[in-house]
Amino acid sequence: MKPAGIHFKKLILVCTNERENGDECCAARASVALHAKVKAAIKVVDPSVRVSRTGCLGNCATGTTVVIMPDNIWLGDVQESDIPEIVRMALA
Ligand code: FES
Repeated sequence: MKPAGIHFKKLILVCTNERENGDECCAARASVALHAKVKAAIKVVDPSVRVSRTGCLGNCATGTTVVIMPDNIWLGDVQESDIPEIVRMALA
């Protein structure tokens, strides 16, 4: 193991986990599109903040789940209308 040699100021994780058996999942709440929109919004204001898709974050019943690290901010039921607030929190 060795250091990756990259460093982002913050990391925003957007759950895009999909379950094909009909169980609750963020992908069923349009989280793939949400991820793309959050990524585009962040890229404009601060490319040192990384926005990545992730698997299940354990908050399936109240997804879409978004996490902002290293601030340890966990958000549920995230909608497209929340993107400006997510950007604000990521820049704080
Ligand atoms: S499927 Fe998104 S938190 Fe579990």
